Amino acid sequence: MKQFKILSVCLLALPFFSCSDVKTDDGLETKVEELLARMTLQEKIGQMNQLSPGNADEVAALVKEGKVGSILNITDPEQVNKIQDIAVKESRLGIPILMSRDVIHGYKTIFPIPLGQAATFNPQVAEDGARIAAVEASADGIRWTFAPMIDISRDARWGRMAESCGEDPYLSAVMGVAMVRGFQGKSLCDPTSVAACAKHFVGYGAAEAGKDYNSTFIPERVLRNIYLPPFEAVAKAGCATFMTSFNDNDGIPSTGNDFILRTVLRDEWKYDGMVVTDWASATEMITHGFCSNRKDAAQRAVNAGVDMEMVSGSFMEHLEELVSEGKVSEATIDNAVRNILRLKFRLGLFNNPYVQTDQSVKYAEAHLAKAKEAAEQSAILLKNDNETLPFTGKVRTIAVVGPMADAPHDQLGTWCFDGEKEHTQTPLRALREMYGDRVQVIYEPGVAYSRDKRTSGIAAAVAAARRADAVVAFVGEEAILSGEAHSLADLNLRGAQPELITALAATGKPLVTVVMAGRPLTIGRQVEESSSVIYMFHPGTMGGPAIADLLFGKVVPSGKTPVTFPKMTGQIPIYYAHHHTGRAPSGHETLIDDIPLEAGQTSLGCTSFYMDAGFDPLFPFGYGLSYTTFVYNKLTLSATDLKADGTLTASVDVTNIGKRAGTEVVQLYVRDKVGSVTRPVKELKGFRRITLQPGETQTVSFTLPMSELAYWTRRMRKEVEPGEFTLWLGTNSDEGPSADFEITK
Ligand code: GLC
Repeated sequence: MKQFKILSVCLLALPFFSCSDVKTDDGLETKVEELLARMTLQEKIGQMNQLSPGNADEVAALVKEGKVGSILNITDPEQVNKIQDIAVKESRLGIPILMSRDVIHGYKTIFPIPLGQAATFNPQVAEDGARIAAVEASADGIRWTFAPMIDISRDARWGRMAESCGEDPYLSAVMGVAMVRGFQGKSLCDPTSVAACAKHFVGYGAAEAGKDYNSTFIPERVLRNIYLPPFEAVAKAGCATFMTSFNDNDGIPSTGNDFILRTVLRDEWKYDGMVVTDWASATEMITHGFCSNRKDAAQRAVNAGVDMEMVSGSFMEHLEELVSEGKVSEATIDNAVRNILRLKFRLGLFNNPYVQTDQSVKYAEAHLAKAKEAAEQSAILLKNDNETLPFTGKVRTIAVVGPMADAPHDQLGTWCFDGEKEHTQTPLRALREMYGDRVQVIYEPGVAYSRDKRTSGIAAAVAAARRADAVVAFVGEEAILSGEAHSLADLNLRGAQPELITALAATGKPLVTVVMAGRPLTIGRQVEESSSVIYMFHPGTMGGPAIADLLFGKVVPSGKTPVTFPKMTGQIPIYYAHHHTGRAPSGHETLIDDIPLEAGQTSLGCTSFYMDAGFDPLFPFGYGLSYTTFVYNKLTLSATDLKADGTLTASVDVTNIGKRAGTEVVQLYVRDKVGSVTRPVKELKGFRRITLQPGETQTVSFTLPMSELAYWTRRMRKEVEPGEFTLWLGTNSDEGPSADFEITK
């Protein structure tokens, strides 16, 4: 992708900006120590304070007094430069301020929400999106973002699944590392680079009952095997910062949890980045009932390993006193400040704290093109009966209906602080502009917005459908219905949307349902009623042109589900990498409507499933169709008996037997059949996107070191255990040929 170089012309005659002195960390620690040695305790504590901007004069005064290390949510480059001027020229030591913002899936050019980016199974999409976000955000002076969010999310009731990369540790790790690469660029000290922040550390996605901020109860082994791996991956990839999560796990809030912040992050992973609290999570430990007051909260957070406090101010109020009382050592303070100063040096802020920007990078054509590509690849074709899609020349009139057909704000999704709906290209606009010469577009929303219960508009939508050759219904969720604090207890389509789809289906016209949402919804009824279904997790600025080209076949769907789609909310948590249990269903269970009267107590079999929902999800993890068909043959293994230090090569032939070129995501899963503890029925260990022409066969090979099968065992050590394994190469987590192999001592 063309890199936009922004000439960073300092307002002051500072030495020419160069990355060399920090790029390889040469001399970095010396610089940190020299500066630290000159700092008073008050100035050190000042660096540990992140401010939410209030009155400009108050901010200026605090900066001048050296009481601010970072400020979040200032996006005016001139204001940024004014504050840096005060910090650099008027405070005693001239330490620049770290400007930060939540830039989660785009700054101005909005990409699909991270869950949608994960659906591409294409790390390049995530890296490009983050790089573009960094170029646009740094143009306004932002040099630290609070992303990637890599919480493992297996409960769609939790609104923040939208911000995650889904349920799988491997996919989340791959996508998270790609986002870190994109945000941080080739060198952190490049003016377009933005420090990334791995969040929320850790286990936040396991909030009990999918209710945001709720407690979690994750045992250490599950923490290490499921929730920590994506964070370890981004730490090893150089993610500059970490953010503590709001949740208490097994009674310990992350912000006061030295096991994760010191034992795991620092001692085991040797992490030398900076740790910030999530918002006021330090003083929220009082609300948790873990700390007795603000002073106690400051003490517990700093001693647990927090370096910087976001907005709640308890460090500024109490750390000096805590040091004088010997409750917090100055050595602890020094280590926190080292992490902060090291980051500021690495960002090149001491050489070049100012921003002189080229505002034209915002919504640059190249950025919009990448956003469209991301939206195209994020689209998941869930159903396509009778090759309804792509539309052919027989379709001369389409009825475009539904509350998401022309919803420029909601299409951008959650955590979109700086995107502007005026730039959103909606499906309605795109279909008219891009295909208006080929088809007549009749538009009738039918339902005004996703929660609208009124059915009065449905008749007009049905009338439009009757006049059309095909109907495209855009339904789903408004942006506000997912994201932080937006938990749902029922995942059915809201408002009169179900009635709208049923009425449209009753016309007998080919019905394409496109869902735009922040999570998987329980759309089983709509799937049955529709000829075709495409799922787009809020696709961002260019979602309209993307879906238009998908509907008319200029682009072929390739997205795969990054989370399991439940049939019913009651099945949650539901995910593919579940354990087998001692009562795995036989697949012949009697469902509730088929149970005979006065059925005997044990007549239904005693296996693990729901009488009213069965065992299987609506759609499994890794699922997605194409406009063509791929078949898998000849799975071969390079060996069937390996040592723990061995490497296996698994290959499979994939053939496109359809009439169109298409892209498939070949997925590699492995099952450890017997462990010192029970193991998941399968785990994703690799994936690859391949594009095949009609009739083309490609042999796809994966190299799998046995070390990749190591896990935290009964001995609480990460190790490869000998035994029998099964390997799959397939089109999703449910389908594909398999072969067995063994690891022997
Ligand atoms: C919020 C979120 C976190 C975000 C932070 C700053 O409460 O939990 O993800 O980065 O506060 O806005």
